Amino acid sequence: MAEELLRAEHINKAFSGVVALQDVQFDLKPGEVHALLGENGAGKSTLMKIISGVYTRDSGDLFINGEQINHDLTPHSAQHMGIGIIHQELNLCPHLTVAENIFLNREFAVAGGVLNKKKQNEAAKEYLSQLNLEIDPATVTSKLPVSKQQMMEICKTLSLNARIVIMDEPTSALTEKEIEDLFSVIALLKQQGKGIIYISHRLEELSRIVDRVTILRDGRYVRTLNFGETSLPEIISLMVGRTLTEKFPRIETPRGEKVLEVKHLSSPHGVGVKDVSFELYKGEILAFAGLMGAGRTETVRAISGADKMSAGEVILNGKPVKIKSPAEAINMGLFCAPEDRKRDGLCVRMTLAENITMPSLDVISKFGVIMKKLEGEKTASMVKSLRIKTPGINQYVRNLSGGNQQKVVVGKWLMRNAQVVIFDEPTRGIDVASKIEIYNIINDLKKNGIGVMFVSSELPEVLGMSDRVIVMCNGKITGEFITRDTDQEKILHYATQY
Ligand SMILES: Nc1ncnc2c1ncn2[C@@H]1O[C@H](COP(=O)(O)OP(=O)(O)OP(=O)(O)O)[C@@H](O)[C@H]1O
Ligand SMILES: [Mg+2]
Repeated sequence: MAEELLRAEHINKAFSGVVALQDVQFDLKPGEVHALLGENGAGKSTLMKIISGVYTRDSGDLFINGEQINHDLTPHSAQHMGIGIIHQELNLCPHLTVAENIFLNREFAVAGGVLNKKKQNEAAKEYLSQLNLEIDPATVTSKLPVSKQQMMEICKTLSLNARIVIMDEPTSALTEKEIEDLFSVIALLKQQGKGIIYISHRLEELSRIVDRVTILRDGRYVRTLNFGETSLPEIISLMVGRTLTEKFPRIETPRGEKVLEVKHLSSPHGVGVKDVSFELYKGEILAFAGLMGAGRTETVRAISGADKMSAGEVILNGKPVKIKSPAEAINMGLFCAPEDRKRDGLCVRMTLAENITMPSLDVISKFGVIMKKLEGEKTASMVKSLRIKTPGINQYVRNLSGGNQQKVVVGKWLMRNAQVVIFDEPTRGIDVASKIEIYNIINDLKKNGIGVMFVSSELPEVLGMSDRVIVMCNGKITGEFITRDTDQEKILHYATQY
């Protein structure tokens, strides 16, 4: 067995003149989990895409199993050399079945080139069961929730039997139980002498699996450390280049009048929502806690017109309203930033400026014509206040790093004059320093008397930022607390009450 599975040295990469990586190094040993850490836009995904043949490096040395790679890798040749990658963004074909996605381009053929569906489904089931997934391989992928789709991506990579497994933010959309299942699989891969490169912004989970960490900042190599010989505060300060004092910048403002009331809401979509009633006040931050699949996303989708509700009433500023589409919701001053940014939140083939001003076209147009200068000014100020890392406002959104795409989703809704702003997992995939900026934006909304709701699976964030918490489980509200009177344990108790 080679001493090293992978070594990258002096790696440089620029995108049309914009430097993404500069003199970066990284190595991976058999049987280890090596975390690659850094803020949004630090260059983590770019380095991984170079190693897996998606991008070609501009210069630098790459060794795989001790052998220097002098040619350009392609995704196919990298796969052939034992490199498997779970990409940060889902790459599944939504209209294909689970098994078809897992074996895409490697279909099970029988003589005559006819697909052996039965055999393929059986093989898929094997891999699914490794991850404790009870999904019928013949299910159409788009019918599955995001967390299950993410698990499928993991399955797909496992089925390649790679020696180097790259996981770019694998857990950002997973439930607690799925994370446990993934960690058991990682332990198994380690035992088999495979190497895992692990990227995550959920720093708390690192201690569970990680052996070494390498930190990048602004496309440059900072340091590699043994995890046992460092601490999270040290890692964070190396990532952001300064010490962060306050994780949750909570502010106290008086609660205003009632702005939103939801009565007996039911929605048949997804996991289904039954008889949900609550109120939201001006200048209040209301968190929706619960486990993944508790019905929180379905609740906010129904309120904001993304899904049709089957029963219930929504009262905005004292007036009963019927919101039949997100466009109507926006006109009434109710905005929802969705959880699946690629599918619902962004047009990745359009520019940052076009995306961020999309809900505000009326604000930036005159006589139906977009005022380009105004569009530019509004976008530039949002880029500045959210610290969106981009070479310019006309960059295509698909070229932004994952976390910076998320900031665009948030920024879109901040351009409008809102009454109610709903965020679904607003800080998913966002680095520690930028999280604080999103919290500051939420605080700004609060200061301006806007009612803010957010769905979050991260309890520290729920406890650190909200005034009140509603806990959901199985499509129903199971508990409601004033945040300062509750704690993690209590919320978890109600989140698991079936
Ligand atoms: N195809 C591309 N074209 C232009 N610029 C790109 C492209 N891919 C990445 N970049 C830029 O390279 C830089 C590094 O991006 P990368 O996606 O590697 O960051 P990251 O560390 O993975 O961040 P995150 O934590 O947000 O996922 C960013 O500034 C990004 O905008
Ligand atoms: Mg990334």
